[in-house]
Amino acid sequence: MKVIQVKNHHDLGKKAAEMIISFIKKNPKAVLGLATGSTPKTTYKELIRDHIKNGTSYRQVRTVNLDEYVGLSENHPNSYHFFMREELFKHIDILQENIHIPNGLAENIGDECRKYDQLIQTLGGVDLQLLGIGRNGHIGFNEPGTSFENGTHVVDLTLDTRKANARFFTNLDEVPTQAITMGIKTILESRFILLLVSGREKAEAMSRLLNPNHKVSHDFPASSLHLHDNVTVIADTDALSMVYSIERRALS
Ligand code: PGA
Repeated sequence: MKVIQVKNHHDLGKKAAEMIISFIKKNPKAVLGLATGSTPKTTYKELIRDHIKNGTSYRQVRTVNLDEYVGLSENHPNSYHFFMREELFKHIDILQENIHIPNGLAENIGDECRKYDQLIQTLGGVDLQLLGIGRNGHIGFNEPGTSFENGTHVVDLTLDTRKANARFFTNLDEVPTQAITMGIKTILESRFILLLVSGREKAEAMSRLLNPNHKVSHDFPASSLHLHDNVTVIADTDALSMVYSIERRALS
C-alpha cells in the first residue's frame, strides 16, 4: 500500500485528479469505479476544471459507482445518482449509456445486485476504483462484520453510518436504512484502487489502517485492502495526524 500525503482536502483533489487524468489519457476506454461522499468532491471539481481547460475527454470512459441507497429515486437530491450527476457527470462529456449506478428502486434488489456484478464483468472489470473510508473503516457500504467474499449486495446501514450521512438529510429518520453496495470481493477485483482520505475525523481509521502491526479483520473492512497489491492512499495531514511512522511521499 503506497501512501501519498498532501496538505489538505484541496490538494487531495488536485493530486487524485492528476492521477485519474493521466490514467484516462493512457486508457481512454477505462472503466472507472466512482465513489460519493464529501471526500471525492474536490477531485471531481478538479476533473471538471481540467475538462473545461484542457479538454480531457470522457467519451469512451465507462463508470460504475460503488453504491446507492435503497428506496431513493434517481432524482432524489440525496440519491447517489443525483450526486454524481451534479458533482461530475453533467459537467463533462461522458455518455449517459456509459454511466452505471445500482438502482435503489429495483423491484427485486437481489437481482439488481447480481446484474450489477455481471455488468462489471461484461465491461471487463474495474480498471481504477476510487474509494473513501468511513470512520468505522467501511469501504463502499461494507460495514464492520461484512464478509470479504461478498459481491454486490444489499446491506443494513449501521446507526453510525446513518448518523454520519444525516448531515445531507433534514433529519436522521430520513436517512435510508439500507443500501446496495459493491462487495469487498468486487472492490478487490479492481486492478487499481485509489483511496482518498481527508480530515481529522478519519485519523483513527487511518492509524488503524496504516499501523505496521495491522491485522486483516472483518471488524475493519478497509483492512481488506492489504490483500490487494495495487492500492494507493492519498491522505491529508489531518487524516494522517495519528499515524506516526509511515512511508510518506511529500508533495511539493
Ligand atoms: P465521506 O464518506 O467522504 O463523506 O467522509 C466516505 C465514506 O463514508 O465512505
